[in-house]
Amino acid sequence: VPSPMAPPPATAPRVRTEAVQVVAEPEGLRAAADALRDEGRVALVPTMGALHRGHVALIERARELATSVVVSIFVNPTQFGPREDLDKYPRTLDADLRACEAAGARCVFTPSASAMYLPGESTRVRVSGVSEALCGASRPGHFEGVATVVTKLFALMGPSVAVFGRKDYQQLQVIRRFARDLFLPVEVVGVPTVREPDGLALSSRNVFLTEPERRAALAIPRALGHAAARFEAGERDASRLSKEASEGLASAGLRVDYVTLADPESVVPITSGAVGDRCLLAVAAFAGTTRLIDNLVLGEDAAPRAEPS
Ligand code: PAF
Repeated sequence: VPSPMAPPPATAPRVRTEAVQVVAEPEGLRAAADALRDEGRVALVPTMGALHRGHVALIERARELATSVVVSIFVNPTQFGPREDLDKYPRTLDADLRACEAAGARCVFTPSASAMYLPGESTRVRVSGVSEALCGASRPGHFEGVATVVTKLFALMGPSVAVFGRKDYQQLQVIRRFARDLFLPVEVVGVPTVREPDGLALSSRNVFLTEPERRAALAIPRALGHAAARFEAGERDASRLSKEASEGLASAGLRVDYVTLADPESVVPITSGAVGDRCLLAVAAFAGTTRLIDNLVLGEDAAPRAEPS
């Protein structure tokens, strides 16, 4: 197991607000969740911080599903590869705590890496199949890190329900799969992607985009919208749908990581032949050095409202 401790994440100040209980120690989270459970169902919203309106939508959905909401803020080192952006991942704890409070969370968990990964720890949760294609192929070890930390969070606080964004569609399916396989008593709920008015999916990494990169990134919702229109008009050929989407991204100057059609449950790619009447179209592309992901379940999701190029 590679050490999750290197490089150490920046130490963020611990802030306390009136209404939100902020806990940094795992045992503190366990005690806080036990107390909240006395009042009714408890929901967990796991995040890596740098909260935006997409996260607020997760908290709001969680509040509809449970009596109280716990938000975790932890930039999980084990889900970043050695050449990825762990060091520069945005950290905005004060603003995040205010956002959690405003959105009605009762407790925020802000652990350190050494509290989540004890000295000598050697356990990982690996989910085969569903985590292997798309981001699993581009980011080896990523979903193992995600599944491990989310399992730890589930074990520490025992949520009745956990809420995740559908922008990370494959992540949602990985979490659903291990929760089911391990008989974890938690309902895993996905919330639709929140977008800017011009169609760009909200992401904590959007802050890295320069103005020209952000303009180029609009090719992503445009390509998804184009594919949705072609699908709606009856196009089912997997290679044509993915080729057209790839070309749309590349012609805007984005470096395509992948454009893949896949089964929406198993996330197994469909590379040729006809897709069914419900099909995942997932894309990952670099605008400059910033890697952006987005997706649509064709036949299910509304197409993003994207500006013409
Ligand atoms: O989606 C994220 O922010 C992270 O992958 C998660 C689920 C909080 C695990 O670190």
